[in-house]
Amino acid sequence: MRLVIQPDYENLARWTASYIARKIELFKPTAEKPFVLGLPTGSSPLGVYNELISLYKLGKVSFKHVVTFNMDEYVGLAPDHPQSYHFFMWENLFSHVDIKRENVNILNGMAEDIKAECQRYEDKIAAMGGIDLFLGGIGIDGHIAFNEPGSSLTGRTRDKELNLDTRIANSRFFGNDIDRVPRLALTVGVGTIMDAREVLIIVNGHNKARALQHVVEGAISQMWTASAIQMHQRAMVVCDEAATYELKVGTFKHFLDIEKENLDVASIWKSKLTW
Ligand code: GLP
Repeated sequence: MRLVIQPDYENLARWTASYIARKIELFKPTAEKPFVLGLPTGSSPLGVYNELISLYKLGKVSFKHVVTFNMDEYVGLAPDHPQSYHFFMWENLFSHVDIKRENVNILNGMAEDIKAECQRYEDKIAAMGGIDLFLGGIGIDGHIAFNEPGSSLTGRTRDKELNLDTRIANSRFFGNDIDRVPRLALTVGVGTIMDAREVLIIVNGHNKARALQHVVEGAISQMWTASAIQMHQRAMVVCDEAATYELKVGTFKHFLDIEKENLDVASIWKSKLTW
């Protein structure tokens, strides 16, 4: 696993957006061979999406031949509900770039047959040839997508009951009223994420420090589902310094040292990003 430590969230966002843009550029996507990108919601990716929009406006990235698959969606929220992940994605990224509507894939939380919807999603990912890069965030309990503690580390797209921690954390988007936070979500599984050719997780802020420690230094565990990325051949965590407070000094120094040539944004645009 790579750990790229940035001084603050602003630098984390700029670095991650440049990395994604450069990946797309190097891939040279076409209509026949699009770049397939997995995407998260939440506050962690917001700065990354803002930076991607800026790079698009500067002509440094195009989403014309990018196909996206979002990680998850609440069950029971219509796409026009302000807290639905459909709404979030169009509001914070898709409406501002040149992505084609038909290339956007988000689980339908209103589907009558939830199981069929999840299977359809898995089949579509497979039909696109798999995901080239899966971007993700993590919850304070180390969950990835909506794979709450105790989720199978080989799970596929399915419905998941949200736990209390997540519903409390996400109640900030629902007027701080936990009863308004849906109890059920559709989510890609850890296995779905692990099948991506590359996984990039962003972790920022002091409140994620314990989760980051488990993901980087802890044992692989269903109780910290993002820790499964230790088993991925091309997994990278991009974090800010605030999130590193629970890491050993030695771990922190080791990753800063081995990544020292790669930490500035300019290095990304010069690199072929092969690792
Ligand atoms: C939700 C999402 C996750 C996200 C997590 C953290 O539970 N399903 O994909 O990573 O929240 O969100 P935030 O980035 O807002 O801390």
